[in-house]
Amino acid sequence: MHTVTLIPGDGIGPEITRAVQDIFTAAQVPVQWEEQNAGQTTFDQSGELIPQSLIDSLERTRVALKGPITTPVGKGFRSINVTLRQQFDLYQNVRPACTTEGIASRYSGVNLVLFRENTEGLYSGLEMFDEHHGIGDSIARVSVVGARKICRAAFAYAAKHGRKKVTLAHKANILKVAGKIMLDAAQEAAREFPQIQYEDKIIDNMCMQLVTKPEQFDVIVTTNLFGDILSDLCAGLVGGLGVVAGANIGDDMAIFEAVHGSAPDIAGKGIANPTALLRSALLMLEHLGEKEAMTRIENALNETLKHKEQCTGDLGGSASTQQFAQNVINNLK
Ligand code: NAI
Ligand code: MG
Repeated sequence: MHTVTLIPGDGIGPEITRAVQDIFTAAQVPVQWEEQNAGQTTFDQSGELIPQSLIDSLERTRVALKGPITTPVGKGFRSINVTLRQQFDLYQNVRPACTTEGIASRYSGVNLVLFRENTEGLYSGLEMFDEHHGIGDSIARVSVVGARKICRAAFAYAAKHGRKKVTLAHKANILKVAGKIMLDAAQEAAREFPQIQYEDKIIDNMCMQLVTKPEQFDVIVTTNLFGDILSDLCAGLVGGLGVVAGANIGDDMAIFEAVHGSAPDIAGKGIANPTALLRSALLMLEHLGEKEAMTRIENALNETLKHKEQCTGDLGGSASTQQFAQNVINNLK
């Protein structure tokens, strides 16, 4: 039995996490949940955005499934996602993007996984404003160790999952220092995994190639800002943010989360689509070594997605969140 920290989150978070829990229960997945919230809901109740009890739980379980969280607007509120990523050194942001029958997309045959460096680069938090001169700096810090870790993680993933190619997206032609560190790190990792093809592409060309011929990509690795942008672009290739999974992974902890937000416009209506969170939960099952349970639920999900009428409104159906979950359960073999 695996103990997993469950962070329901805000807005539609509790509705979609409940759907995932119901599907796991029906599939008899050997997971028990330790529920600990964070975000607007806990802030309203206790004045804390990230309660200590959540941190304690994460330190115990080392694995979490997290619903979307509303970061209160206003000064002094740091993003909870960024805080957790940095505090626990969750340096890999992993985002698979795959076209799926039943989910509308302009493309077919897309099946790629993006590895975004999650703790450094332009999001290192090294920012200053010189009032006297009216100049602002936001520093993109890339460490040799950090670059090596993310590049190696991408190649190791490719090797483990039978993928053929890793593409580094970079801007080393202009960013002679930080860009070069990534280029060197990727080449080093490529030498360690000679069975995996390696190529590098300059980020602007990469964007053009991704929207014209996305089937050519397999595993992509890149720095924080480029990865942030590319990951949403890749979601757009396969049906949008409502259907893609995400994982924040470190050497000894992983937090799995849907990449969409708390959708305040539809919260409480029972119509949110749980697909993105469910797919994130499936990545979690793989991480936990529960491959069989993962495949079984994934097949049931894919079967459900093929039938529009079994799906939620955003996918063209009319099922509620709970009905959708029940349809997945009914499709379990
Ligand atoms: P959003 O992703 O919450 O919503 C954008 C649009 O997509 C809305 O129309 C919403 O109804 C729809 N949508 C999102 N998820 C859906 C789902 N599962 N099923 C059906 N429709 C769905 O983005 P928005 O409005 O910019 O942000 C709302 C709040 O979420 C903000 O407070 C933001 O900070 C937070 N947020 C949190 C994230 C996280 O915790 N990972 C990520 C992005 C935003
Ligand atoms: Mg983003």
